[in-house]
Amino acid sequence: MSESQTSEQPWTVLRLLQWTTEFFQKRGSGSARLDAEILLAHARQCSRIELYTAFEEQPDEAQRAAFRELVRRRGEGTPVAQLVGYKEFYSLRFRVNEHTLIPRPETEHLVIEALDCAKASVNDRPLRIADVGTGSGAIAVALALHLPSAQVTATDISAQALEVAQWNADQHEVADRVDFHCCDLLADVEQPETFDLICSNPPYVSESEYAQLDRSVREHEPKSALVAGEDGTETIKRLMAEAYPRLEPGGRLIIELSPMIADACEDLAEQISELGDLRFIKDLAGHRRILSLGRI
Ligand SMILES: C[S@@+](CC[C@H](N)C(=O)[O-])C[C@H]1O[C@@H](n2cnc3c(N)ncnc32)[C@H](O)[C@@H]1O
Repeated sequence: MSESQTSEQPWTVLRLLQWTTEFFQKRGSGSARLDAEILLAHARQCSRIELYTAFEEQPDEAQRAAFRELVRRRGEGTPVAQLVGYKEFYSLRFRVNEHTLIPRPETEHLVIEALDCAKASVNDRPLRIADVGTGSGAIAVALALHLPSAQVTATDISAQALEVAQWNADQHEVADRVDFHCCDLLADVEQPETFDLICSNPPYVSESEYAQLDRSVREHEPKSALVAGEDGTETIKRLMAEAYPRLEPGGRLIIELSPMIADACEDLAEQISELGDLRFIKDLAGHRRILSLGRI
């Protein structure tokens, strides 16, 4: 921001927020004010809410320098979550970095479906849950926290993502009930042999959709977390085939997908006679986002 043009007015918290919101809006951000608040709170090492009682305060030079750098990098496309190092998911804070997908709000529908299924299940032993492609560990950790006796197995093909997931499990004090494995889908998971729930937010973007994604996503989030072959169904197809033999009778396979491939995924599921009781859960935009299948 060019302070020389407007140096007659002090750079208060409110003025910094207003200037930055406009700057981000011009760069096409759909969450300009929120981004500005999160970054300024980070630079001032306070909570967002504290900014609201500090509108007339003037951040010191060190805070302004830190904020300027964050605003510059955000303006160049770095996601806010990577700039501050965390993202809120299911009201929990998760560390993220360039090796992990930033957890998305739509994935909370998967957690809700898994919790509903868990509560409906009648078992006199702790539930066994898998999270395939755990990334930052968002799903695995949220489920472990909300199901205090469940045993969770979380896998990812990326060792660097798993380091972050392990850190998040430690931070939320569920590491004793979440087992991490670096492998393809469930390939190296020998124990437990079967699960009550297998959850996954796998890569599901087609090559052509990937080319249309926001530049910020393409340049800053791992492509291997997003793309699954020519039509986006490659990983889901393999997951369905490998997951159903690992499900307890009555267990459920819960998969996040793109509404664009919902029909194709329904067809894939129908080809597996051991899977049934198919239902879709819609996201807030009314699109089919989660596919929930029962092991027959
Ligand atoms: C869409 S991200 C989801 C991350 C996290 N579960 C979430 O919801 O935020 C998909 C994750 O699956 C992992 N992945 C991709 N292919 C995989 C495979 N064949 N086996 C295991 N994990 C895989 C990626 O590394 C990435 O972390």
